Amino acid sequence: MLDVSQLDADEVRHILATAAYFREINSRPVKKVPTLKGRSVVLFFAEPSTRTKTSFDMAGKRLSADTFALGKSGSSLVKGETLKDTALTLQAMNPDGIVIRHSSSGAAQFLAERLDCSVINAGDGRHAHPTQALLDALTFSRQWKGDFAGKTVLILGDIAHSRVARSNVILLTKLGAKVRLCGPRTLMPPRPDTWPVEVFSDLGKACQGVDSVMCLRLQLERQHAGLLPDLREYARTFGLGARHMKDAAPGCCILHPGPINRGVEIDSDLADSAESLILEQVENGVAVRMALLFLYLTRKSPEASQAMSPSGMPE
Ligand code: CP
Repeated sequence: MLDVSQLDADEVRHILATAAYFREINSRPVKKVPTLKGRSVVLFFAEPSTRTKTSFDMAGKRLSADTFALGKSGSSLVKGETLKDTALTLQAMNPDGIVIRHSSSGAAQFLAERLDCSVINAGDGRHAHPTQALLDALTFSRQWKGDFAGKTVLILGDIAHSRVARSNVILLTKLGAKVRLCGPRTLMPPRPDTWPVEVFSDLGKACQGVDSVMCLRLQLERQHAGLLPDLREYARTFGLGARHMKDAAPGCCILHPGPINRGVEIDSDLADSAESLILEQVENGVAVRMALLFLYLTRKSPEASQAMSPSGMPE
């Protein structure tokens, strides 16, 4: 699972249906099922993470898989070991899957080309964050009862450095929604006209009639200096506030992949408002990652085809 571009719309719907099944399991008093008993997953996070790492760990454990977490500072990467040698070392321990987050775009692909086990991309540089886009899709799907056609999503903020924006543009378009982008010119990708989106520089106009706004934080760890003259001016011009929601479509919902910087890309009260689905995104993240671990870790096994059919859902 390297990016959502490898999935067709039916495969996306199958993942979302599987995740909906696991959402129900996550609402039970006892949330553990034996589905992946005996399987092992390495969580190799060479960049910081709260949501993605914890939810993959929780997802694996709820499916009874054994999970092993490795961070950059606790690994031999800091002693000069290469990513390739680290990956081959992990593979020698025979895990069924490796979940990787890395600051280099293409790191997950690099591993997938060298390893036999399943590789799941948990975010690579500014390239892709497929599991985030899928959990966002599950959040939209629940909000819109599965119907993305005719819906418009505004993605707001630092588009240039955002893997979340890239994966969401691909996935939302695939599912039939329209996508708008808004942000300062210095935080737009080099050729936004080549993306299947409408581009706005005025936030007020960008919000008119939208069914959802997805706010993004400034990815300062990926930015060169000098892209923004002043943080307060950025917040005034591109920070989402209650006034912007007045021109949006009725029922417009607010998403944010997190972590949020209150008062910068989004007004603090709005982040906590009834329109905000930010914590539902986190909840959906566990279910989507359970679905992905289940589907990818069982695909090569004899029971895979049965396990992936709706009637063969794990109990
Ligand atoms: N959305 C997201 O990837 O958050 P984390 O960096 O906390 O995992």
